[in-house]
Amino acid sequence: MATVEIRNMLKSYGSLQVIHGISLGIEDGEFVAFVGPSGCGKSTLLRMIAGLEEITGGELEIGNRVVNDLAPKERDIAMVFQNYALYPHMTVAKNMGFSLRLQGVSKAEIDEKVRHAAEILGLTHLLDRHPRHLSGGQRQRVAMGRAIVRDPQVFLFDEPLSNLDAKLRVQMRSEIKALHQRLKTTTVYVTHDQVEAMTLADKIVVMNGGRVEQAGPPLELYDKPKTLFVAGFIGSPAMNLLQGEVRAGDVPWLAMEDGLLLPLPKVPGLQPGRKITFGFRPEHILIDPAGIETKVLVVEPTGSETQVSARAGQHTIMAVFRDRVDLRPDQKVPFLPDLTRAHMFDTASGGRFG
Ligand SMILES: Nc1ncnc2c1ncn2[C@@H]1O[C@H](COP(=O)(O)OP(=O)(O)OP(=O)(O)O)[C@@H](O)[C@H]1O
Ligand SMILES: [Mg+2]
Repeated sequence: MATVEIRNMLKSYGSLQVIHGISLGIEDGEFVAFVGPSGCGKSTLLRMIAGLEEITGGELEIGNRVVNDLAPKERDIAMVFQNYALYPHMTVAKNMGFSLRLQGVSKAEIDEKVRHAAEILGLTHLLDRHPRHLSGGQRQRVAMGRAIVRDPQVFLFDEPLSNLDAKLRVQMRSEIKALHQRLKTTTVYVTHDQVEAMTLADKIVVMNGGRVEQAGPPLELYDKPKTLFVAGFIGSPAMNLLQGEVRAGDVPWLAMEDGLLLPLPKVPGLQPGRKITFGFRPEHILIDPAGIETKVLVVEPTGSETQVSARAGQHTIMAVFRDRVDLRPDQKVPFLPDLTRAHMFDTASGGRFG
C-alpha cells in the first residue's frame, strides 16, 4: 500500500493541453474515484499515474518516491481496464499468473498466489477454463485477479464495469467494495457512473475540462457542492436548477424569466439584482400550499419511492417522494423546496453562496 501525491500535473498532446495543473493527495489505503463528463481527462490522468502516458509537467509520487520517469512495471501498480483483454489461449490460472511468470517468480509461489486470489474472487472452480467459456462478470473477475496476484502498492481501474449489464454491474460493484475492505490497497477508480463513485469511494474527484472542480467525501459533494457544475453532476435524478434574479422582500425571492417567484434562503452577500441559480434536490421537496403551483407530467412509482416530474412555467421539476403519493398526470400540485437544504450559485461564475 502507498500514498499517491499528484503535484501540479500537466498534460499536453502536441499543442493541445488536456490536463491543466491538477494537484491531489491520495492517502494510503484510500479509494478515490475520478468522475466527470466524457473527455474531461479522467483516463489521461489515470494513465499518467500508471506510466502509460508521459507526464508533461508536475510531479507524481507513489509511496513517497517520485516516479515521473519510471516505467510502468517499476511503479508497483496494477491496472484493470474496461476491456479486460484476457489472453484467449490461456486458462484462467495462466492468465492470472502471467505477469508473475514474466517477473521470474517460482511456479510454487505463482500457484499459491493464484490460488489465494481465486479464492477471494470466487474463481477457484474456474481456474482450468478458458476465457471464452466464462461469463462477462467472470472475465472481469479474472482481470481483477490478475491485478491482485501482483499485490501492488496501488490499483488503478478505468471503467472496469462499463461492459457489463446493469445487474452484474451492481453485483461486481459490491464485490469490488468487499475486495477493497479486505485488501485495503490504495485504489484509483475512473467511472462514468456516479452511483458507482458514490457507493465505492472514500473520496470523489469531480473533473471538468482537465481541472478538478471539487474533491471530497461523497456525501460532502452531495450536500455541499462548491460549484454549479458539481451540483448538476452529482446526484441522480439530478438536482433541480432554476435560474433567475434576486428580488428584495421580507425574505429574498427568486424571480424567473417566466414570471415564477420562489422564496430563497437568507444568505449573506445575496444582493437584489444578482443573477443566481437556485438548486434543490428532488428528495428535498414538500407538497405544501405555500409552494409553487406545478402540473404533474409523469408519475413513476418504484415501490420504495415515487418519482414525479411536473411543469412549473417553462421549467420541469423533478421530485422524489419516499412515501407513496397519489398523483396523476395533469393534476395541479404545489411543490415547496426545503429551503434549509437548498443551494444557491452565482450563475455566471458557478460559485456557491453560503
Ligand atoms: N493520444 C491522444 N492524442 C490527442 N488527444 C488525446 C489523446 N488521448 C486523449 N486525448 C484528448 O484528451 C482529452 C481527455 O481524454 P480522456 O480520454 O482522458 O477523457 P476521459 O475523461 O477519460 O473521457 P471518457 O469518459 O470518454 O473516457 C480529450 O479531449 C481527448 O480527446
Ligand atoms: Mg476515459
